[in-house]
Formats: sequence, C-alpha cells, structure tokens
Amino acid sequence: MNLIIHPPEKLRGTVRMPGDKSISHRAAIFAALAEGTSTIYNFLPGGDCQATLACLRALGVAIEEPAPATVKIEGVGLRGLQEPAVCLDCANSGTSMRLLAGVLAGQPFMSILDGSEQLRRRPMGRITQPLQQMAATVLGRQNATLAPLAFRGGGLHQIDYTMPVASAQVKSAILLAGLFADGLTVVREPGPARDHTERLLRVMGGPVHVYGSVISIERPRTALTSVEMTVPGDISSAAFLIAAALITPGAQITVAGVGVNPRRTGILEIFREMGADLEISNERQDHGEPVADVTARHGQLRGIEIGGDLIVRAIDELPIVAVAATQAHGRTLIRDAAELRIKETDRIATIVSQLRRLGATIEEQPDGFIVDGPTQLGGAPVHSHGDHRLAMALAVAGLVASGPVLVEDAGCIADSYPGFERALTKLGVEVEVHS
Ligand code: S3P
Repeated sequence: MNLIIHPPEKLRGTVRMPGDKSISHRAAIFAALAEGTSTIYNFLPGGDCQATLACLRALGVAIEEPAPATVKIEGVGLRGLQEPAVCLDCANSGTSMRLLAGVLAGQPFMSILDGSEQLRRRPMGRITQPLQQMAATVLGRQNATLAPLAFRGGGLHQIDYTMPVASAQVKSAILLAGLFADGLTVVREPGPARDHTERLLRVMGGPVHVYGSVISIERPRTALTSVEMTVPGDISSAAFLIAAALITPGAQITVAGVGVNPRRTGILEIFREMGADLEISNERQDHGEPVADVTARHGQLRGIEIGGDLIVRAIDELPIVAVAATQAHGRTLIRDAAELRIKETDRIATIVSQLRRLGATIEEQPDGFIVDGPTQLGGAPVHSHGDHRLAMALAVAGLVASGPVLVEDAGCIADSYPGFERALTKLGVEVEVHS
C-alpha cells in the first residue's frame, strides 16, 4: 500500500488513540497466564499485537474478540500452556518474540518462535543469553542470537542479571522467566526502560518489587488474577499527531486518552524543550497507568541537544523528532541512540536517507543524527523500508512539504497504528491510499 499526503489547508480536531502496543502485548500474555477470564478494552488491533494473540492461541489459550479492539482471554494459569503443534509466528513483532521467549523458557515443552525476514535479522542474543544462564535450553541461528529460536524450557534457576542496555523487552523476558524459576530473580537496569510489565504484573498479584533501578520477582504462591481493563492510548502513536500539530501552521490537535507513564513521556519533554505549546489535561489512573489528554498547537520550535536517559524514554519517537527538527530553528543533535539501529530498520540510516529525499539537512552519526533547520521540505517519493514508525514520520513530513509526498510500502503502519490514515483525514488532510 502506498500513501500520498497532500499538505493540508487546516489541521484541527480531536483523535482518540488506539491502545498502547507495549501494554496490549503484556495484557494479553499476563491474562493468558492468569486464572479466570480477562477482558481487555482498547486492545491494539495492530499486526504486532495480533501476532501475540495468534501465538497464545497456538499455546492453547482461548481468546475471543467479541467487538473491535476488545479481547476476552481465558487464562490457563501459570502451568496451563500447551505444547504448540506449529511454529509460533511473531510476524514483525520484536516485543512478541522477546516477551514470549521469557514465558517459553519456563515451559516444560518444545516450542519454536519465528517471524518475518525483518524480525529474523534482529538481535536475540540479548534475551537468549540471560535465559540460558537461567538454565533454559534455547537453540537458534548463529549461536542462538537470531530467530528462529527453539525452546525446551522448564527447570529454570533464578538469576541476578545486570542488563548491558536499557531494554524493556529484555527486562520483561527475564521477569517473565522469573515467574517460573526457583528463588528470587533480580534484574538491574542501566536506564529507565518502560515499566509496564512491573506495573501490570503487580496489579495482577505478581510478586514484583521495584527498588529504583533494581527489580525482583519470584514464583508466585498464588495464581495471577484476571483483569478487566482499558489499555491507555499509545503515546508513541500520538507523537505523530502531536508533531503534526506542532509543525503545521495554524494547527491544533488533541489526542485523547493517552498513556502518560513517566517512562514514556520523554517525547513530551523533548517537544517542550523545543518550545512546543503542549497542554496536558484530564489526568487519571487506569490499572496502574497514568492517562491524560494532550493538546498540541502550532508554534515556533528551536533545535536542541538530546542524549542520556531521555533517549531511553523516547526511543520509539526519535524518527518523528527528526521530522520536527527539520522545522525547528537551529541545530538538533540526537546522541546516545545507537539502539535505533536495531529496531524494525536501522532507524538512523533510514530516517536520514528518506528525509534527505525531501530536502532535509540531516547528517548520520554513529549513535544518532544532526538536523539543521528550518528547511522547506519538497514533495518526493520516499520509502518506509517496511518500518511503521518511519512510514508515519514521513507522512507527517508530507504535511509541511511544498508538494505531495508519496510514502511507498506504507501498509506496515497497521503494525502499530491501524487507522492512522483515517485519523489524518479526520483532521483535515487529503490522503490518497493506493493499494
Ligand atoms: C518495547 C520496548 C522497546 C521499544 C519497543 C517496545 C516493549 O524496545 O522500542 O517498540 O514493549 O517492551 P527495547 O526493549 O528493545 O528498547
């Protein structure tokens, strides 16, 4: 699918955000491991979370989808998963593969996790090594560093693990394996990776304790309890619409019901530091997660330097920061972001090459990029490389280009934000969809 974005005359309105991708994955997996029926509203109907549901079904979990974005899961308990008869297909979803790896490492049966060509290129040693240290049997290509990954789990030992990189997927894989290990499993994190696993497991009665950057978990004495919950809107998806409002003259957009967990709001801090007019309202709590509405208005932005822990709290939003930076006055420097190179694409290389096609002044760095602005972007064809966040970032760049921007291979947007094109249309953008 290709998209053609025409620069809009006006950009205004309110959009309710689809469910957070990270929380949807976790809600589904934890509900499967709980006892009783869980109902999850505003579950992200995107490709990545559908992959998690398909894997859970193949593990013997009954899952219904009685209404759009509503999922009903019959928990099988911590010992109730069954050996799958098929390979578990995680499609493009790194979160599905890494979190499920933690669960499968603890199961006394054989299972295989596989995914798309893109996922098969992403590094898995970061999870297989600690899981092997916990005594899981894990096999995979290139010394179990690349999928497909085969597990013959069970008999796990506790671990005290210092993570070499701040990664919520790695942290979550170890904590999930810790549910099946003997003794106390401890994870030490070098930076503030998102903590949805800790928050939701605790709500469901999981024995998780957090002491600053040290998290512990042990085998629960009682079953995890089922939940009825609404997944907060995804701030990572909202970031595209917020950025759209900030850079488009005259624009004002409200994104409603967005998760504002402090480990995810790095993007709001970055935009504020760039001078953005952002208003947070209607703050509330839902199942351990803070939620709010965010209103963004167009205004002049300035270039800033970003590094350190702020990068960890905004890692998925850096492609859209690059787009906003093309419209900011002065230089924006992103450093300490080498993790971007191992996302769905090498996001440093892909955002630099594609924004250059639109005329941006952007330089690749080993661990980030430098953007000089403001620049009048031009209309041109650009390519998503199969990366949902790149596709959406480029579509937003199209809002301020002097002519139409063709985003090729944009079907991947549905991995995390099905309905993105519809949201843009509702806000006043002319979007042509060509399949
Ligand atoms: C995620 C964690 C992040 C993020 C990804 C989702 C999660 O990855 O980039 O989109 O749900 O745990 P890392 O854990 O590799 O940093």
